Amino acid sequence: MSAVIVDGKALALSLEKGLRKRVAALEERGVVPHLAVVIAGDDPASHVYVRNKQRACERCGILSTRIDLPSRTTLEGILEVVAELNDDSSVHGILVQSPAPEGVDELAIASAISSKKDVDGFHPNNLGKLVQGDASGLLPCTPSGVLMMLEDSGTGLSGAKAVVLGRSRIVGMPMALMLAQRGVDATVTIAHSRTEDTAALCREADIVVAAIGRPHTVKADWIKPGAFVVDVGISRADDGGLAGDVDPRVSEVAGWLTPVPGGVGPMTIAMLMANTVSAAESA
Ligand code: GUN
Repeated sequence: MSAVIVDGKALALSLEKGLRKRVAALEERGVVPHLAVVIAGDDPASHVYVRNKQRACERCGILSTRIDLPSRTTLEGILEVVAELNDDSSVHGILVQSPAPEGVDELAIASAISSKKDVDGFHPNNLGKLVQGDASGLLPCTPSGVLMMLEDSGTGLSGAKAVVLGRSRIVGMPMALMLAQRGVDATVTIAHSRTEDTAALCREADIVVAAIGRPHTVKADWIKPGAFVVDVGISRADDGGLAGDVDPRVSEVAGWLTPVPGGVGPMTIAMLMANTVSAAESA
């Protein structure tokens, strides 16, 4: 069996098409959606991600402003910029690119961004709404993109057994909540570094979402034939290329597999665009 390789890039582009219509409707009301991206330091991967986000803004008709800060910027320095952006009514979305400079508390940054402009979906109000089943908040982009890919494939989610590998604030935890929420209705297990026999858990799963950040960890013999495998990982491989969390041979067993690159990455950016448009619509 050979897995369907899920084309995240194509799905992201089709979502952007729908966003351009919403942007046009906003423009008729005199509103231009505006995303501010703050980047502190010179992490090369972060610069690539931010550039990709700016390009997506251009495709969607979203205005983007980039604020570059030196790598020695303190938490206070970042909070000052965030406060200005919170007060600027022309800005609808604020994103502070991770990783922040060493020693800077990212939770403090997430809490300082106005929850209405929190297009990353990391503010406690937005994460709290997710737990409460209140759909009015902004949702984290990577899990939203994953859910969109699962729904688009037509794979049944209600009652499906899903295993989420990793419990990060940004991906694993919100992903598990979104899969389990009413209306999606998957049965979810979160596996992490202390989990016993992760491979056996995965073998029972209809859906495996790998978000651990260790290249090629999920092996073909972990996967139930026909399962939907989502690869959120993106690391630098020994040969200098990009590697996901999932071993490429999983494609011989799975029913669907999201590739790296070209899977979850473009969908994450599309969801960021969607959150920015939503924030502008409700401003
Ligand atoms: N760094 C890597 N992914 C992300 C993301 O989704 N949001 C932010 N702010 N930083 C990131």
